[in-house]
Amino acid sequence: MFETLKPAAPDGILALMSLYRDDPRAGKIDLGVGVYRDETGATPVMRAVREAERRLHETQASKTYLGLAGDTAFNALMIGLVLGEDADRTRLRAAQTPGGTGALRQLADLVRLARPDATVWTPDPTWPNHLPILRAAGLKIASFPYYDPAEGITFDAAVAALNNAVSGDVVLLHGCCHNPTGADLSLDQWAAIADLAVERGLVPFVDIAYQGFGQGLDEDAAGVRLLAARVPEMLVAASCSKNFSVYRDRVGAAILLGRNAAEADAAYSQLLGVGRGIWSMPPDHAAACVRIVLEDEALRAEWQAELDTVRARMLALRQGFAEALRRASNSDRFDFIAGQRGMFSRLGLTPDEVTRLRDEHGVYIVGDSRFNVAGLPGDRLDDLAARIVAVLP
Ligand code: LMR
Repeated sequence: MFETLKPAAPDGILALMSLYRDDPRAGKIDLGVGVYRDETGATPVMRAVREAERRLHETQASKTYLGLAGDTAFNALMIGLVLGEDADRTRLRAAQTPGGTGALRQLADLVRLARPDATVWTPDPTWPNHLPILRAAGLKIASFPYYDPAEGITFDAAVAALNNAVSGDVVLLHGCCHNPTGADLSLDQWAAIADLAVERGLVPFVDIAYQGFGQGLDEDAAGVRLLAARVPEMLVAASCSKNFSVYRDRVGAAILLGRNAAEADAAYSQLLGVGRGIWSMPPDHAAACVRIVLEDEALRAEWQAELDTVRARMLALRQGFAEALRRASNSDRFDFIAGQRGMFSRLGLTPDEVTRLRDEHGVYIVGDSRFNVAGLPGDRLDDLAARIVAVLP
C-alpha cells in the first residue's frame, strides 16, 4: 500500500530544528521554532512546575485512568485562568487535551459533527499548522485579511471579508500574541468582532497559546473574555506548552461555551467522544503539574512571577533588537518590532533573503521571515542586525 504515498512536505517550522542542529558553524543563531529561551539559550523547567513535579512524585499513588475529560480539577482551573473567575460556568465545559494542538483538533472535529457545512474563516496570515488541523477534521476553510506589513492589522478588510460568512460559520482568532505577526486586536476590535458574531450568527474559535507572554495573564485574555460574555456560542483552544514551559509533556484544554447548560452538556459529551476516537484519554503528567501550581496560592504566585520575568525579557529583547536594527539599517523600517507583543514578529524579508540569511549568515528564521523573539541573543544584537541588513538590497 505504501507505494501510493509520496514523501510529505516537511513542516516549515519544525524542519528548521534539524537544519539548525546539523549546522556546524559556531556563530549560528536559532530564531525558528517557538520555544522560550533564557539568556543562556536554555529552555528551563519553571521552578513552580519543578516543585509541582516533586509533589506529584511524592503523592501520586496510582496512574490508573481518570476518564475522557482527564483531570476535572485541571479543567475547572483552566476555565478560570482563560475566561476569568467571573465567567458563566453554567454554559462552559472544558476537557484536558494533548497540547493546544489536541484542543484545536478535538474542537474542529466537534464543529464538523455539529455543522458539517461550516466554513472556518482563518486570519491571513495564521499559524501554518491551523490549516492541516482544520483540513484533517474535514472542514472547509476560507481566509480573511489580518495583517499587512505597511498598515498593521487590516481590520476593515477583515470585517469586509467576514461579512461574507454565513450563519453557523466559524471564525478562528488568536487570543493574544498573534503567531506569526505579534499584532493583536485592540479591545474595541474584539468588541466589533463580538457584534459581528452576534449579528451574523458566527461562532468564534479562539486559539490562545501564549497567555501571559504579551501584556499579562489577564490582559492577554481580555479579548476572549469579552467574547465569552457576549456571544451565545464559542470554542477556545488553550495551550499550557509555553506559559508553563511544559512543551513536550503536551497539555492544553478544549473549552466550549453553549447557549445553555443542556446544549453545552450535549456538545461536551460529543467532544469527549471525539477524544475517545483519537487518543481515548489525555496524557496526565503536565496537567497534574499545572493543577498543582494553580491550586496552591504560593506556587501560583511563584509561577506568575516567573512568567513576568519571561515576558519582561522578551519585551526588553524586542526593544533592543529594534534599536540595533535602527542603527544597522539607519532607518525606522524595523521599529514596529518594539511595539508588537508575544513570541513572534516578522522581519518582512523575501523568501530569498530568508534563505541567504540562513545559508550565508547562519541565522535561522521561518520562511515567512517570522523570528522567535525569545531566541534573540541579547549580547549580540548588533551582530545579528548587521547580518540581517547584509541580505537586504
Ligand atoms: C511555533 O509556532 O513555532 C510553535 O507553536 C511550535 C509549533 O508546533 O509550530
